[in-house]
Amino acid sequence: MSHDFLQINDLRVSFPTDDGVVRAVSGLTLSVGRGETLAIVGESGSGKSVTAQAIMGLLNPLATEIDGRILLDGVDLLACDPEHRRSMRGSAMAMIFQDPLSSLHPFYRVGDQLIEAVRIHQDVTKKEARTQAIDGLRRVGIPDPERRVDDYPHQLSGGMRQRVMIAMALINGPQLLIADEPTTALDVTVQAQITDLMMDLQQQTGTTMIVITHDLGVVAEMADHVCVMYGGRVVEYGTTDAVYYRPSMPYTRGLLASVPRLDGAYDEHLDPIPGNPPSLIRPPSGCVFHPRCREREAVPGDLCSTVEPDLVTAGPDHRARCHLLTEGTP
Ligand SMILES: Nc1ncnc2c1ncn2[C@@H]1O[C@H](COP(=O)(O)OP(=O)(O)OP(=O)(O)O)[C@@H](O)[C@H]1O
Ligand SMILES: [Mg+2]
Repeated sequence: MSHDFLQINDLRVSFPTDDGVVRAVSGLTLSVGRGETLAIVGESGSGKSVTAQAIMGLLNPLATEIDGRILLDGVDLLACDPEHRRSMRGSAMAMIFQDPLSSLHPFYRVGDQLIEAVRIHQDVTKKEARTQAIDGLRRVGIPDPERRVDDYPHQLSGGMRQRVMIAMALINGPQLLIADEPTTALDVTVQAQITDLMMDLQQQTGTTMIVITHDLGVVAEMADHVCVMYGGRVVEYGTTDAVYYRPSMPYTRGLLASVPRLDGAYDEHLDPIPGNPPSLIRPPSGCVFHPRCREREAVPGDLCSTVEPDLVTAGPDHRARCHLLTEGTP
């Protein structure tokens, strides 16, 4: 499958603050093929949401420095004019956030919010838009959509609200859907239902998807490719199988080891990665992960603390940023 529907090249995002410049994303390069699902994983503060916001054009240009290139189906998003960019949001690309209450307006009926979303991008009557809104609710599995369309957000359960958010994101048929922690705020059974729903919809519509998640179970179920981020960088990228079965960067190995397996007993030994995420104002020299890395003894000299490794080939369709791959002793 071709990898050129979304292409991000050397993306850099930084925020000037009173304490210094926060380099939230430092040279991120990745691509997603049309119709594929890419998962982005990494611990808190690794730059996942900032990357999503940069793609969607949601970062405040007055408080953010952005560099690099983001091509969506050949359109240079960082270079195109703001009006065009705005018109693409919601139609060409859409986003689902973690907390549906913060994205649904509490004072308006869900139907009216869906109708407005339709009419921003389509020249249709209110009646036609209402039909689309009801169809949209039906498509995401909301029972009795003709009645529910007139509910206010607080009348719906958390899972139902998240379904409404998905309906809202899909209502204008976007080609790219970004879901940022779409299930984190939900309880476990509802999480599974929402994950299944997104997979079904993705199959029906062929929408290209980026799923940002802490949940490696969601990754294994949904994603074709996985991108592991650490300290604003891609540290590993590959097919889901490659990253799961042949993790090539010690941070990824740590992430996988810190997840309880579904088939494991509840007392299974968990192995979280010791230490704290790196400072994004004064990141560590060399490899950003080296202060927490348990495997650096396998690399000769002080390479890990002095030279930042490149993202190098770790296998077919698989890359990782680690000196072990080029300099390490097994
Ligand atoms: N507007 C901003 N101004 C200053 N710093 C910011 C801003 N937005 C994000 N950051 C910082 O950028 C870094 C990356 O944030 P981001 O939200 O992308 O993390 P994340 O990987 O999504 O984490 P989480 O898993 O907690 O959602 C964090 O250190 C955050 O504090
Ligand atoms: Mg986030």
